Amino acid sequence: MARFEGKTVIVTGGSRGIGEGIVRRFAAEGATVFGTYNSGADRADSIAGELNAVGMKVRFIQTDVASEQSVKELVDAAVKETGRVDVLVNNAGITKDGLVMRMSEKDWDDTLNTNLKGAFLCAKAVCRLMMSQRSGRIVNIASVVGITGNAGQANYAASKAGLIGLTKSLAKEFASRNILVNCIAPGYVETDMTQKLSDEQRAGFLNVIPLKRAGTVDEIAAAVAFFASDDSAYITGQVLCADGGMVM
Ligand SMILES: NC(=O)c1ccc[n+]([C@@H]2O[C@H](COP(=O)([O-])OP(=O)(O)OC[C@H]3O[C@@H](n4cnc5c(N)ncnc54)[C@H](O)[C@@H]3O)[C@@H](O)[C@H]2O)c1
Repeated sequence: MARFEGKTVIVTGGSRGIGEGIVRRFAAEGATVFGTYNSGADRADSIAGELNAVGMKVRFIQTDVASEQSVKELVDAAVKETGRVDVLVNNAGITKDGLVMRMSEKDWDDTLNTNLKGAFLCAKAVCRLMMSQRSGRIVNIASVVGITGNAGQANYAASKAGLIGLTKSLAKEFASRNILVNCIAPGYVETDMTQKLSDEQRAGFLNVIPLKRAGTVDEIAAAVAFFASDDSAYITGQVLCADGGMVM
C-alpha cells in the first residue's frame, strides 16, 4: 500500500515523538520525507539510516521553524531534490508551562514563535509551489488545549488556538488552488513532551479520557495520513480531535 509514492512530504519536528511517528508512516507508504530537527542530530541520523537501509526515502534537515531563513533553506532542499512539496505537516512544538502571573515574556514569545509563527512561515514557504502544482495538503498539529484552554499553559493553549484560526484562514485562502488545510488536535500522547508532566497531571488526564489510556504516536500519524490522502479530498478547514474522546 504505497499511497504516497512519488509524493514529497515535509514534517517539522520529525526526529522524535509524534513527528517521528509521522515520518515513519509517510516513509512506509512510499513518500520521500524531509524531516526536521532543531537539536539531536544523532537521533535524526539514526532514524534516517534505519529507514533508508530498508529502501525508504528519508532525509533530516536541521531547521528552526521560527526563522524564515531556516524554513526557506528546508523547502529549497526539498524542492531541489524532488521538485515538489505535496504535504506539509506542521508538527514542531514546544511547551514552556507556568501560571501567567509567573510567566516570562520570553516563555510566551518562544512558545508562540515555534508553535504558531513557525506554522505560518512553513505554510508561506510552500504555498506558492503548491499553488502552481494546483494541489497540496497542509496538516497542522494543534492540541485539545487549543480548544479547551488549560491553567498553566496560557502560552501553549493560545498558540494552539491560534493554529486552529490559522488552519481555517489558510483553508479559505488556498481552497481555489486545491490546497487543503486541516488540523489534528491530539489529546494526551506519551512522548518526551508529556514526560515533563507530574504523576498528578498524568492521572488527571487519564481520568477525563473516556478510552482511559494515552494515545500513541502511530494513532496520531494515522490521522495525519488521512488528511494527506485522497480519502479526505472534500475536507478542509477542519479540526479533528485524536484524543480518546477527551473533548467532544
Ligand atoms: N504529546 C502530546 O500529548 C501532545 C498533545 C497535543 C499536541 N501535541 C503536539 O504535537 C506536536 C509534537 O509533540 P511531541 O509530543 O512529539 O513533542 P516532542 O517534544 O517529543 O517533539 C517536538 C519536536 O519539535 C521540534 N522542535 C521544537 N522546536 C523547534 C523549532 N524551533 N524548530 C524546529 N523544530 C522544533 C523538536 O526538535 C522535536 O522534534 C507538538 O506540536 C505538540 O504541541 C502533543
